[in-house]
Amino acid sequence: MTNWQKLYEEKNTPWDRGAASPVLIDWLRSHRMPGAILVPGCGPGNDLLALATSGAEKVVGLDIAAGAIAIAAERTRGMDGVSLVTGDLFTLDHGRLRCRFDWVFEHTCFCAIDRSRREDYVRSVAGALRPGGHLLAVFYLEPWDQDEDQTQGPPFRSDLHELDALFGSEFDLLYSAIPTTSFPGRAGKELIRLLRRC
Ligand SMILES: C[S@@+](CC[C@H](N)C(=O)[O-])C[C@H]1O[C@@H](n2cnc3c(N)ncnc32)[C@H](O)[C@@H]1O
Repeated sequence: MTNWQKLYEEKNTPWDRGAASPVLIDWLRSHRMPGAILVPGCGPGNDLLALATSGAEKVVGLDIAAGAIAIAAERTRGMDGVSLVTGDLFTLDHGRLRCRFDWVFEHTCFCAIDRSRREDYVRSVAGALRPGGHLLAVFYLEPWDQDEDQTQGPPFRSDLHELDALFGSEFDLLYSAIPTTSFPGRAGKELIRLLRRC
């Protein structure tokens, strides 16, 4: 299992691009996300900033690593409506974040967790949403080049088939597309999906 806290202590955080996902920024140009938003595995908080400045009423960043939350706290200092929680997404079902959110925003949390926990991920995210709440996800489907070992990770790869099977019982799929913009190196390797909790 990955020791995320240790990676933050060692400043070994190549996922921290110092900016929000370009896919999210593009989405926010033409969509609103009213209500409360949970960002699981928020890391250093770059996406929190973009969501908060887009006019979201309440944005909660959750991360298992205290080191990530400390950086996110620094980057979002003084921003209205942003709060941070150090904790494990998989224990949300029994926690104070259950059924509270109108939105979950996913970006490089799903691909970071062990593949054996993907069903738990779906359960936890569905459990955090109010019925009818939405999951906006930027899935990093293909982190590795074709000549690389596809089983390595994190990040762990995924595909449309797997996503349909995993999310199909808890969510209705409303939108799915290859983003037209991405971080350098991720073009064509990501997928944006909007899903509604059944
Ligand atoms: C690859 S990083 C991505 C961080 C952030 N989404 C970004 O793009 O900058 C994955 C993050 O998920 C967090 N994480 C991993 N497992 C988690 C869990 N079970 N609950 C909450 N956070 C978790 C890690 O600590 C890490 O910050």
